[in-house]
Amino acid sequence: MITRRNLLKSLGTLGAVGTVGVPGMLLSRNAEAAVTSFSLPLKIPPVLTPSRTDATTDYYDMDIGETTAEIIPGLQTKVISFNGSVPGPTIRARAGRAVAMTYYNGLPDTTLGGAPGKAVIHLHGAHCPVTDDGYPTDELLPGDTRTYTYPNNQLPAPLWYHDHTMDYTGPHVWYGMAGLYLMTDDYEDALNLPKGAYEIPLVLQDRNFDASGQLVYTKNMNGETGNTQLVNGTIQPYLNVAKRKYRFRVCNGSNARFYKLALSNGQSFQVIGMEGGLLSAPVTVTSLTLAPAERADIIINFGSLAVGTTVELRNTLVASTSSVYRIMQFKVNSTATDTSVVPSTLRPVAKIARSQAVRTRNFTLSMSMGMWTINGKTWDENRVDATPRLNETEIWKFTNQSPIDHPMHLHDIMFQILTINGAAPAATHAGWKDVVIVPRMMGTAEIIMKFTDFTGKFPFHCHILEHEDMMMMSQFEVLP
Ligand code: C2O
Ligand code: CU
Ligand code: CU
Repeated sequence: MITRRNLLKSLGTLGAVGTVGVPGMLLSRNAEAAVTSFSLPLKIPPVLTPSRTDATTDYYDMDIGETTAEIIPGLQTKVISFNGSVPGPTIRARAGRAVAMTYYNGLPDTTLGGAPGKAVIHLHGAHCPVTDDGYPTDELLPGDTRTYTYPNNQLPAPLWYHDHTMDYTGPHVWYGMAGLYLMTDDYEDALNLPKGAYEIPLVLQDRNFDASGQLVYTKNMNGETGNTQLVNGTIQPYLNVAKRKYRFRVCNGSNARFYKLALSNGQSFQVIGMEGGLLSAPVTVTSLTLAPAERADIIINFGSLAVGTTVELRNTLVASTSSVYRIMQFKVNSTATDTSVVPSTLRPVAKIARSQAVRTRNFTLSMSMGMWTINGKTWDENRVDATPRLNETEIWKFTNQSPIDHPMHLHDIMFQILTINGAAPAATHAGWKDVVIVPRMMGTAEIIMKFTDFTGKFPFHCHILEHEDMMMMSQFEVLP
């Protein structure tokens, strides 16, 4: 049996484990990009307009291709973009109304970082048939076109789309293949949360650049981290804000970095939702940890700050001297009326009781033979490690035998967290989720979920993309 003490002993050679989600050994090799903090205005990814709509569906066209972006002023960085944009354009969807996305793969056979130009599009958080889910070997080859249809018959939630190519998700996403897909409904609209210019997406990503401004990807098996912080593809930007409430749709789109978000003035903020949509009630916090692929819907009220005040959003998991400590800056530069409200009841979350589960499955996460494994095994397309039946509820318990936190993600369904290290989750994590952090060093996480609507094989994996690429992925098959 592996105990925490034995584990610590056997891991001694791996060196000190830092307080961040990945070990302190992951130091970048390049000087951070020469951009003065908070000198660039935050870019907002464009909202994509449907090419046509009908009674049931919005149709979109998306071109994948190599392009350049001016990320560092005066330099052109090669990226892989969706419709020329990095991050890709934002899709605005409505629950109950389908979206059909037609992707054209305009990449060459070999693309940036030497990765193959084939692509797999996965809409992370979507509840959709396997045929549209982006199975890791269901490839869109260079020159090919393909339509993925999303029924959006699910609770509205902040989803994101990203590449999911077997073995190459890490480099593909690093070079740009990710974007937001924000779903809403009439109920959410009627809540009168901040909207329009006051609802702002923040895609957090860290990167390394070389002296000529090109992205550098090293396929670090512990997880690729960068020394330069980007938000929506802008290096350490600033955002002019008015004295009022804002809703920020935060997505940790980083390959491997964890963030503990906090404001430099110590001010609290409200968490109103996470991956699976709105919480039952807002939760006031002074910090919030986000693992790769976790999303947070937060309200920050700048109303009590004087015009001229600046506030930084920081990642307090890293030292204050780190080049990625400062994420971005808010500059309070105007007044504005604010008729938005954050109601004390958002959207009731129907709790799944432990007693509804028909079985519990156990999964251990570890490192063996230089690969990241689940139950000691690496990915095998021909092996299925769980076979829930349609409309059954199951509990899955993950145990982490490694020195790194693993953010585990299931395709197909949203789940609820029952326990983390044996204790009930924080109120912020008590709603619908699609990523759960399984704490390092024999930490555990129990989740509960019901497999509805779709049969077939869906992946589940660690969302540190280099762990996923280095085999910390398995699949479940929902049986009829
Ligand atoms: Cu966001 Cu299977 O991933
Ligand atoms: Cu996913
Ligand atoms: Cu992992």
